[in-house]
Amino acid sequence: VVPQPPSLRDDGGDEDVAASGKKKVTFFFGTQTGTAEGFAKALAEEIKARYEKAAVKVVDLDDYALDDEQYEEKLKKETLAFFMVATYGDGEPTDNAARFYKWFTEGNERPPWLQQLTYGVFGLGNRQYEHFNKIGKVLDEELSKQGAKRLVPVGLGDDDQCIEDDFAAWRESLWPELDQLLKDEDDSTTVSTPYKAAIPEYRVQLHDPSITSELDFSNIANGNPSFDIHHPCRVNVAVRRELHRPESDRSCIHVEFEISGTGITYETGDHVGVYAENGIETIEEAAKLLGQPLDLLFSLHTDNVDGISLSGSLPPPFPGPCTIRTALGQYADLLNSPKKAVLTALAAHATNPSEAERLKFLSSPQGKDEYSQWIVASQRSLLEVMAEFPSAKPPLGVFFAAVAPRLQQRYYSISSSPRFAPHRVHVTCALVYGPTPTGRIHKGVCSTWFKNAVPMEKSKECSLAPIFIRQSNFKLPADPQIPIVMVGPGTGLAPFRGFLQERMALKKEGVQLGPALLFFGCRNPRMDFIYEDELHNFVEQGVLSELIVAFSRVGEQKEYVQHKMMDKAADVWSLISQGGYLYVCGDAKGMARDVHRTLHVLIEQQEHVESSKAEAIVKQLHMDGRYLRDVW
Ligand code: 2AM
Repeated sequence: VVPQPPSLRDDGGDEDVAASGKKKVTFFFGTQTGTAEGFAKALAEEIKARYEKAAVKVVDLDDYALDDEQYEEKLKKETLAFFMVATYGDGEPTDNAARFYKWFTEGNERPPWLQQLTYGVFGLGNRQYEHFNKIGKVLDEELSKQGAKRLVPVGLGDDDQCIEDDFAAWRESLWPELDQLLKDEDDSTTVSTPYKAAIPEYRVQLHDPSITSELDFSNIANGNPSFDIHHPCRVNVAVRRELHRPESDRSCIHVEFEISGTGITYETGDHVGVYAENGIETIEEAAKLLGQPLDLLFSLHTDNVDGISLSGSLPPPFPGPCTIRTALGQYADLLNSPKKAVLTALAAHATNPSEAERLKFLSSPQGKDEYSQWIVASQRSLLEVMAEFPSAKPPLGVFFAAVAPRLQQRYYSISSSPRFAPHRVHVTCALVYGPTPTGRIHKGVCSTWFKNAVPMEKSKECSLAPIFIRQSNFKLPADPQIPIVMVGPGTGLAPFRGFLQERMALKKEGVQLGPALLFFGCRNPRMDFIYEDELHNFVEQGVLSELIVAFSRVGEQKEYVQHKMMDKAADVWSLISQGGYLYVCGDAKGMARDVHRTLHVLIEQQEHVESSKAEAIVKQLHMDGRYLRDVW
């Protein structure tokens, strides 16, 4: 008899749990790229394996409840819960956690109401950002404030280093506490048998190409009224052009997606999510390393592999049948550095023992320094690592489940306004291209795809990509007479081009516009002054009151947008203190942080106040929704 693995155990509903004498454990995840979800599922599996008594559920925060009341009602019934939540961009929750986070953390003046709950929080963030793990920290504090009992201190995962190690350390801190809560008195086995997670895999079915054909996405009818991250809409690239001048050694691409007839709508300031594909060289290299022919037709399934489900914690597989070419192109992240769990999976399939040993070492606690040097600091891609271990050729079901992460959508701030371009979504994208420490040329998947996209203007056989719209709060004031100050160097200009198009359309309708300042920054006017003519035109048309440009590589000294803001401090502050809005868009780690600091100094100077008072003013602007940031 094959022992039933933990993932197949049916834990039933709440009533069943109560009746069975089991103890309910709920895992909530707030995930963007799937890491938090993966951690939640892995830990859930381990708890199931360790504690007979545990009835474990893993829940997407968005799916937990339909509305706030239901959140409340259901949370009151939880007794042991873990929250695995990522922090994004400017200290924001992930899309699937946003509704819960807002409800749970805002305007909660009631007396402690969660006294029945014991909880743990693990946050996923990146120390390079200003608001490192804000969501995890705030949630941890709020849960405690609202009466819940903290089981272990909040875990703060740092994706800049090895987040898997941070997670492993936090997980270890749980067992002594969980033993107290979940271990049966008469059960002596649980601690002595260390749990080892199985490597997940999909079941693979091969298809005969003479009978079956590849699922053809271009034939799937558009017209679904609600597109989202799980249901993107395939649209044509209508226009593609280079925005840098020939003198520039870099590239920035303007792309227009054709959305007429698709049902897609958007607002100025929204984001577009784009599913791009790997380039053909990358696909071919990966197929060679796997030892698989490009035209092999296959499909993946989550039902049993040899009677044992090894796919319990896996997301549903991508649609099939499809060829190896399509699968590697559309679904496999091949160019990021592999996580440690990937090395473990590769080790299990390395036929050469010394390769297997080295892979195991790299993924072990002892190999920590080697991993951070040889993999992380060297920016070794998954393909580079596989090339170093040629005997490790995992089967397809393992490769797509445990080796290659799912290729993620990329988000861009839309650079058009629907009032100006109702049938198009414009994107402004800097090409990611440059050498890594190993000498590989790293090419960003999506920007490279944009660079090579064939537009409708050029050919009927144009490029298409699945896209969807993500709403944002980065919006113009409802009253167009309210002054605005925009700060957006480089591709941070994108949403402001949309704002200015919108103001142009309003002006043509006879609407009175308030003043608008734009601070733009680039290296050199002869190279990367993107949309220069359009910006001058906005000034001529009276849509933009003043365009202030900082060139960082022209004079002796670097000039940045924040220097220009200080030069214009009186004008900037006069507009904002009249009730105006300040918008910042672009790089979060450098520019937005520096602009934020400059804003403090500017207020100190203009208001003649101390630093703490200036800080309070900035905070108030933020709370009033008049200091808005769209940063990445
Ligand atoms: P640099 O590359 O010459 O340093 C758009 O990328 C512009 O933003 C470039 O001119 C770039 O200058 C500039 N930039 C780089 N870091 C910045 C920072 N911390 N603050 C403001 N601008 C910055």
